[in-house]
Amino acid sequence: MTGVKIVEVAPRDGFQAVRAFIPTETKIALIEELAACGFSRIEIGSFVSPKAVPQLADTPEILKRARLPAGIRIMALVPNAKGLHMALEAGIGEISWVISVTESHNRSNVRRSVEESFRDFAAAWQGLGPGKPRLRLGLSTCFDCPWEGRVPEEAVERCVERAISIAPDVEIGICDTTGRAAPSHVGSLFGRLVPRYASDRVAFVYHGHDTYGLGVANALEAWRQGVNVIDGAAGGLGGCPFAPGAAGNTATEDLVFAFEHMGVKTGIDFARLLGAADRVAAVAPEQSGGKLRAVPRRRALSGFGAESRGVQAEAACLEGR
Ligand code: COA
Ligand code: ZN
Repeated sequence: MTGVKIVEVAPRDGFQAVRAFIPTETKIALIEELAACGFSRIEIGSFVSPKAVPQLADTPEILKRARLPAGIRIMALVPNAKGLHMALEAGIGEISWVISVTESHNRSNVRRSVEESFRDFAAAWQGLGPGKPRLRLGLSTCFDCPWEGRVPEEAVERCVERAISIAPDVEIGICDTTGRAAPSHVGSLFGRLVPRYASDRVAFVYHGHDTYGLGVANALEAWRQGVNVIDGAAGGLGGCPFAPGAAGNTATEDLVFAFEHMGVKTGIDFARLLGAADRVAAVAPEQSGGKLRAVPRRRALSGFGAESRGVQAEAACLEGR
């Protein structure tokens, strides 16, 4: 069975949603703990206006000081040319450039029209010359917009085509910014995009939020449609400060449990992740989410595969359930 790669995004999408400043030391400790769980990719911070997102203004310092396992791919979000160049100066090898499919969210998020953002992106990216970093083009509001409602699939497809015409080697993040997508919608959109555009140069990622409790179901549907890179945030932290009503990302620990429980390998140390997710959630308990942290730990850990059934029975017995 095809495995799945989960990209840990709490150190960007998770932290950006927390209003009270998380001390840089705390962020570094949490990032190092998450990175030690076995992720091959992690998103750390963003290079955006410190007035727009003061929480992530310490991104360059974090990137300098965090001790991360060799080989782990680190990505940071950028919204414009200035952010791109700051990220490159910080030694980032992979950027996530963000543009929304809907006008209203793009204006709220980056204060530009969609057209202006694509033009800025084209000029900045094509102006880089050879030796470009790896690229993700994160398309926000692919399913639902806080102001415009359900987003037509044709509008997403137009953005995908535009992205590929500017950057033929690209990973495209299909983001459910508000968490309102239904699995049928996820299935229909990826069913349209993957066969038409996925190639050895173009990959798709599903980035979902869990506002309505559909985060895991949506991720499983994306995977069923051939998307094998999925974003998650430990502790279910997260949310776009510029999308009213959006709650946290789908909790990474819930995604890992769901996939592993189906026999789909994630490469993540689940026990370690649960501990790390507890500590990430503790920075803003009222904004955290997910189910698996609330399950008695022995039961959660005993749910993997046939070999653990004995342990599960024992745990159930001990807990009197
Ligand atoms: N990083 C740091 N500072 C930046 C920046 C960047 N990427 N881009 C612009 N700035 C600074 C400018 O230098 C300028 O500073 P000054 O006021 O000290 O002169 C100021 O921000 C305004 O620049 P301008 O280009 O006019 O930006 P803007 O006010 O139109 O805002 C964005 C546009 C994109 C910079 C801003 O909306 C933003 O940072 N959005 C990020 C949204 C985000 O992170 N959303 C969550 C992730 S989806
Ligand atoms: Zn998000």
